[in-house]
Amino acid sequence: MSKVNAGILGTGHSYPKGVLTNADLEKIVDTSDEWITTRTGIKQRRKAAPDEYTSQFAVGASREAIERAGIDPAEIDLILCATVTPDQILPSTACLIQAELEAHKAAAMDIVAACSGFLYGLSIAGAMISGGQSKYVLVIGAEILTRYVDYTDRSTCVLFGDGAGAAILGPVESGRGILSVKIRSDGRYEKQLYAPGGGTKGGFTAETIARGDHFFKMKGHEVFKIAVRSMADISREVLCEAGLKAEDVDLFIPHQANQRITDAVSEMLKVDSSRVYSNIAMHGNTSSASIPIGLDECVEAGRVRQGDVILMASFGGGVTWSAVVMRW
Ligand code: COA
Repeated sequence: MSKVNAGILGTGHSYPKGVLTNADLEKIVDTSDEWITTRTGIKQRRKAAPDEYTSQFAVGASREAIERAGIDPAEIDLILCATVTPDQILPSTACLIQAELEAHKAAAMDIVAACSGFLYGLSIAGAMISGGQSKYVLVIGAEILTRYVDYTDRSTCVLFGDGAGAAILGPVESGRGILSVKIRSDGRYEKQLYAPGGGTKGGFTAETIARGDHFFKMKGHEVFKIAVRSMADISREVLCEAGLKAEDVDLFIPHQANQRITDAVSEMLKVDSSRVYSNIAMHGNTSSASIPIGLDECVEAGRVRQGDVILMASFGGGVTWSAVVMRW
């Protein structure tokens, strides 16, 4: 029996109305628009209101993806929500999304792989579809990172934003869809980017909250170097496995962490900047949501045509990294 190919049938995205500009940040922390723009490329990021929560944006993005895929929510077999900022500890955000979508046939679970979560989801979805266990899989990346950002720490608070992106995967004809996908992690680098509070080890008490243990902590300079190397290496691996070269790539959508990371990875891969997508100026780093938001923006802008080769690569806390190459 020949293997079923898995591809993306529809995409969607959603984010809060609230905007936090560099000028806003200048008023609350010792920073400047000039520093943030030149060091990161970020001009603004979306920020959820206190009464907004992750699954709301995930559901908005999912509804768009489901409609564009032309399927009914009742046909979805599996819902994977990549998030490090879930609505609550239990049940999973994926189960809460399932209930809202009335996708009652599906199995649902969260993926905790930080900024690589969406590509981890594509990898699992691809395997489930190719293996015959699922026909339609909804993969979501959704975050409200601004809830876990310490707005007294200028080295992290300027970077992160909120939003969600989603994709419906299903069977596609031979030669299309996922051509190669790889996911990796290395837990020895835990302390490069982490939030120690809130779990069974770090605890969740008045003291840990006052100390800000639940906020993201990051060794920015080290993350920068390892992110560039890992994303470039794993991108080369998937291209090689698919029998493709950098010049075959029509569109490269890297995780949006820093414009300088995007530029360095693209240069190492020799993908011309005209074929690289960047929305970091408008969204900042939205972790697992950054790639699906970028992908859907490209679809909406007509930057993705049938037959195009699309490369996506990510890096995040864990540390985790991943890449996928697909033919649209
Ligand atoms: N505004 C003004 N100055 C700032 C600042 C800010 N928001 N943040 C840091 N600085 C200062 C530092 O205090 C330091 O000052 P010093 O030289 O007097 O000590 C100086 O700027 C340089 O800091 P450094 O951390 O070396 O800057 P950088 O060029 O490495 O940029 C990051 C910092 C965080 C933007 C960059 O390292 C980065 O993007 N790393 C990757 C982070 C990331 O993507 N994480 C998520 C991975 S998914």
